[in-house]
Order: sequence, then C-alpha cells, then structure tokens
Amino acid sequence: MIKGIKGVKDLLPEETPRWRFIEETARRWADRYGFHEIRIPIFEVTTLFARSIGASTDIVEKEMYTFQDRDGTSLTLRPEGTAGTVRAYIEHNRGAVPVPQKYFYFGPMFRHERPQAGRLRQFHQFGVESFGMADPRSDIEVIALLWRLLSDVGLQGLTLEINNLGYPADRDSYRPQLVTYLKQHESHLCSNCQRRIEMNPLRILDCKVPECRALTEQAPRLADSLSEAPRAYSAAVLRGLDLIRIPYSLNHRLVRGLDYYNLTTFEVTAMNLGAQNAVGAGGRYDGLVETLSGPPTPAVGFAVGLERIAMLLADSAIRTSAAKAVVYIAAFGEQGSLAGLSALEDLRVCGISAVSDFRSSTLKAHLRQADRLGCSFTLIIGDDEVTKGTGILRNMVTKSQYDLPLAALPTAIQPLLTIS
Ligand code: HAM
Repeated sequence: MIKGIKGVKDLLPEETPRWRFIEETARRWADRYGFHEIRIPIFEVTTLFARSIGASTDIVEKEMYTFQDRDGTSLTLRPEGTAGTVRAYIEHNRGAVPVPQKYFYFGPMFRHERPQAGRLRQFHQFGVESFGMADPRSDIEVIALLWRLLSDVGLQGLTLEINNLGYPADRDSYRPQLVTYLKQHESHLCSNCQRRIEMNPLRILDCKVPECRALTEQAPRLADSLSEAPRAYSAAVLRGLDLIRIPYSLNHRLVRGLDYYNLTTFEVTAMNLGAQNAVGAGGRYDGLVETLSGPPTPAVGFAVGLERIAMLLADSAIRTSAAKAVVYIAAFGEQGSLAGLSALEDLRVCGISAVSDFRSSTLKAHLRQADRLGCSFTLIIGDDEVTKGTGILRNMVTKSQYDLPLAALPTAIQPLLTIS
C-alpha cells in the first residue's frame, strides 16, 4: 500500500466544512478591510526565499523543499507566502497603481519540520500583505484584521504579543552588546543557540529551552537600544490598538524566525495549542521589496496557520449555511431505476440537491441510506410508480407521503421541500 507522506495530511469530507467555515470567515474579514485576493505559484526560484527569509534562518538552512528543474535551475516549494507576493508585486509593477495594494492569499506552504500536533510539512496559511504605507495605522489595520478574524471564528484564550525590532541600524548597535553577554554565558546555552551566537544571535531570545530563556531574561534588551523614530512609531501603534480596544501584551523576545522584519512584529498565541502555540504572526518589512530589486516600499502583513485554527475550533462554533433540503432518490426495478436516473438529473438541473446509492436495490436498503446521509426527503420510484407516472415523496422526519407527477417533478416537488 502506498501511504501519504509524513507530515502531509489528507482532509477528509468530515473535516472540510470546518475549513470552509474558517476560509469563508477569513474572506469576509479581508473584504471588510479592503484586501483583495492574489494567487501566487506554489514554487519559485530558490534564491527568492533565500534572499527574503534570510540565509541563516531555520527555514532556509534546513526546512526548504528544494529540487532541480530539468534545466538545472534550483526551485523551492514555497515555505511561506510573503516572498512570492513581494516578487509578484515587483514583477507586475504594482507600485505604479495609485491606490494602496492590499492583498490576501490562501494556500499550502511547505517546510521540512519534525511533524507533531500543529506542525506539518505541508500546512495551509491565510495571509495578508499591505504595501505602500509607512504609517502606524497600516500596522494597526492588519493587526485588527487578524484579531477580529480569530475572534469571529470563535477562538478562546488568545493573546496578542507585540514587539518592536527597530531599524537595521538599531539592531546593528544592539547585536554586539547581546553577543558579548551571550559569550559570557555560552556554556549554559543549548547547542543550537551556541551555534547561533555568531550567525543569528537575536534568534536566541526566541529559544524555548528553559536554560536559554532564563539566561536571556537578564540579557541587554533591544528596546533600550532603539533610536527615537522606532520608539515613536511603536508608541503610535500601541496607542491606536488602545483606541480600537484590541488587547495586547509586550514581548521583548518576539524576534520572529524570518529575517525581513523591522519595527513592528506580532504573534497571536492560543492557550490550548501546546508547544506549537502560535496561531498567526507577522510584522512590518519595509526593506524587503528593495532587497528583491523593487522600489523602496514599506509593507506589513501576517499569516495564520489554518490547521492550528481548525484544531482549536469547537464544533459548536462552526456556523454553516442553513441545512438544505436534500432529496434521496430511492429507485428500484428495471423501469424504476431508469426513471430514478431521470429524476436525479431533472432535480439537479433545477438547482435541487439530489443523491442516491446505486448499490441499493430494495426500498428498505434505500431508506436506510437516506437516513444515513441525513436526507430530509426520499422520492420513491419503483416499477409500479413508473406505470402510474407518479413518484412518492416521503418526508423523512414526519413520515408523511405525497404522490408527485414524474413528468413535472421539479415544479411539483419545490413547494414541498421545507424542512420541518
Ligand atoms: P510564520 O510565523 O512563519 O510567518 O508562519 C505563520 C503561521 O503559520 C504560524 O503562526 C503558524 O500558525 C503557521 N505555521 C508555520 N509553520 C507551520 C507548520 N510547520 N505547520 C503548521 N502551521 C505552521 C510567516 O509565514 C510570514 N510569511 C507571515 C507574514 C506575512 N509576515 C508578514 N507578512
């Protein structure tokens, strides 16, 4: 038997209503905030991700699915959506469009991580990217969209954490202080962090190993090295969140695992998710468009993990559109089976959802299937009904029955399809 790949999941029909509910809610909120859908490719040239996410990040160092195209070009399955969106923004010269470019996307992302609950190798994100506005209100807008969306799907126990990474120059002046401190305590750091001291020391602040955490609690803080402009920017973002009543807490450790951020970074975590507790995260990335050879363009965005939202969502929270009447066609006998085939088609073409089970050959077997499928009505058509030219419509709840002319089925059935 050929099995699916580890960390790459199937979504069976029982689970998809939950996903559709999340996706519909996300679309509705994106629409309210004026974001428009973009669809970008699942694979891109490898250098796009290496240059944007950062060569010394975990994603680029060890998590990318990279392969050689037939002409030798190195390609990578996208580990996230920001890099591809920025590439598309530049390639289609969207900076020349005179209105703000605010995009959203859905889709699978690929990272070679160790699979566990909430951590997959193929996972799905809903993300937004807002280009062109170097204004705290733009940060507030995307954070608000993230918060409203997660609240609306019904997630409980959420925390929004915010940090300010300043500008690259702020981090340049902070890094040596941090490195000096870390080197003094190097032997107490985990092996991963020991390696990071030279490569990516800020990421050590984010390490979840208790010894590393205890140590970095005493480390010099980036906030104390920030220049005046990022401090004022951060204050404006927080003031705006207060104004629109979005609760947050400050987290000086939130440096994020992707290198393109500056100024605002944020993450929403959920209590019941265990170790992989980030539901969504994002931040400002004012330098990325330029890094990828586009014009200087400020930008901010976030992405949420749909698997993690789906895990947290209580069944009771799923609001699906009102149950539709579904007609089960119980057709049997030679003539009855043919009439049943016509009836199915007639109803479907007229917009009525109709199903059958072609394996069932007795009325009893059909009625059992109609019940299992949760159909509200069954239309019974045996050879006798064909001779009379009428089918019998049975309301599966009240058990009342009506004769309907097979020749004018859709018109005759329509007024009776109300679910009691
Ligand atoms: P990220 O923090 O790498 O950011 O991912 C965002 C979210 O995707 C996470 O909070 C998590 O819910 C989900 N996620 C990440 N990796 C996995 C995984 N292996 N399995 C399941 N879920 C996962 C980004 O991707 C940035 N592009 C966000 C962004 C957009 N920043 C600015 N614009």
